[in-house]
Amino acid sequence: MIRKLNGLLRAKSIGKVIHYQDELESTNTTLLELGEKGASEGTVVIADRQTGGRGRLERSWISPAGTNLYISILFKPEIVATDAPLFTLIASVALVEVIQRLGIENANIKWPNDIVIQGKKVAGVLTEMRPRREMVDFIVVGIGVNINMTRDEINLEMGNVGRIATSIKENLGNDVERAKFAADLLLHLENWYQIFISKGRSAILTEWTNRWGDLNKRVSVTINENEQFEGSAVGVDEKGYLLVETDNGETKKVIAGDVQVI
Ligand code: BTN
Repeated sequence: MIRKLNGLLRAKSIGKVIHYQDELESTNTTLLELGEKGASEGTVVIADRQTGGRGRLERSWISPAGTNLYISILFKPEIVATDAPLFTLIASVALVEVIQRLGIENANIKWPNDIVIQGKKVAGVLTEMRPRREMVDFIVVGIGVNINMTRDEINLEMGNVGRIATSIKENLGNDVERAKFAADLLLHLENWYQIFISKGRSAILTEWTNRWGDLNKRVSVTINENEQFEGSAVGVDEKGYLLVETDNGETKKVIAGDVQVI
């Protein structure tokens, strides 16, 4: 995989250094450690299998060997720490673009960090940040993509959760070369990162909103056990937080939570 990826890589700065391992607990954890030791921007960690893959809200990310992509990328932007969640949006835009270009045109984004195909999750993004005073020291963007799992493998590996998951293969009907997918993803990621650096957040927010599947849909938002509400998903603010207009006309800002279209 790593030899193939090096041959296919067209990104200029992202992926100059790639660490590949057959097995890691979590590519994000490894890259956070490398970041602490001063690894350079664009450093990438890939594992064939993760034993402790992590998702948002302390969920686990099912990471069997030989079939999917588990990849983390290091960024060192000069931005305030509170803007770090924008990197989830940057990665989501790059991801959905690569998936659509494979021929899956109905792939879209589900706030905040899911890529879905007909409502089923195919990929997720976990952005983790280390601050230096009020600024970002570094950001690790971790991406998991279900690539070549069959329906049987999804059901077997994920149990109940398999009902709301899918893979690229399940939608395309054929296998996709993981190294090619990774090379394309790094290129698109580099491109959107450059756009963010040169044009600022508005270009990202516009593109993200265009590829968001739930604009103006009625949603149920669960913040925690005690807080839940419904309303219309009207957009995201300048930090990427979800804006939901409730029935009494109030616009609520959702920083973290689960959102279901109803
Ligand atoms: C989510 O949907 O909640 C985010 C899932 C992110 C999974 C990826 S796999 C590569 C990287 N390493 C991890 O431990 N998590 C991310």
